[in-house]
Amino acid sequence: MALNVSLWSFLLYAFSLRLVRGQTTNATCVSSYGWANNTLGQSPCLVAAYLVTACLNTSFLVPALPESNHYAGPTTSQANLCECNTVTYSLISACADCQNREYLNWGNWTANCAVVAIGLFPKPVPAGTVVPQWAYININSVRLRLTC
Ligand SMILES: *[C@@H]1O[C@H](CO)[C@@H](O)[C@H](O)[C@H]1NC(C)=O
Ligand SMILES: *[C@@H]1O[C@H](CO)[C@@H](O)[C@H](O)[C@H]1NC(C)=O
Ligand SMILES: *[C@@H]1O[C@H](CO)[C@@H](O)[C@H](O)[C@H]1NC(C)=O
Ligand SMILES: *[C@@H]1O[C@H](CO)[C@@H](O)[C@H](O)[C@H]1NC(C)=O
Repeated sequence: MALNVSLWSFLLYAFSLRLVRGQTTNATCVSSYGWANNTLGQSPCLVAAYLVTACLNTSFLVPALPESNHYAGPTTSQANLCECNTVTYSLISACADCQNREYLNWGNWTANCAVVAIGLFPKPVPAGTVVPQWAYININSVRLRLTC
């Protein structure tokens, strides 16, 4: 029994290490955007990197946005509920906004989505991160907050 328990903790540990290594960002938010950090002090860009990594099941970097660029929405082949939801969208949009960059409106983000989810992320939130509460709120309130 003790062996089982320690094997289990080891596996959990190895698994979380893999997840922690799997996602990252080199985008920097302006300091006035601290409100958008989660309770772990992670920026919306880093939280978005965790979510997209979970969606694509492969290590994903949210790159710093050069001027006059925006993050593209999911392509037809990537479009699934995991990308086509307001939580992922809100985090990516906040990540662009916090770098003083443009972001797509919800209609453009979901242009390739057959179905969309409002107010939920349809997978378990990956280990190592926490989705900030504001990312779950209604999309119209999010847009108001981001553009104010
Ligand atoms: C927000 O997160 C960024 C990146 O982790 C950090 O540099 C910054 O100090 C944080 N700000 C607040 C107010 O938590
Ligand atoms: C995710 O990728 C890993 C290896 O990279 C693979 O073992 C696993 O089956 C994949 N999971 C899903 C849900 O595709
Ligand atoms: C962020 O990483 C990407 C991909 O590695 C790279 O192309 C880009 O130059 C980096 N940006 C900054 C500001 O470091
Ligand atoms: C976003 O959608 C509008 C129409 O709602 C369109 O005019 C515009 O070109 C789109 N922008 C991008 C970057 O796709």
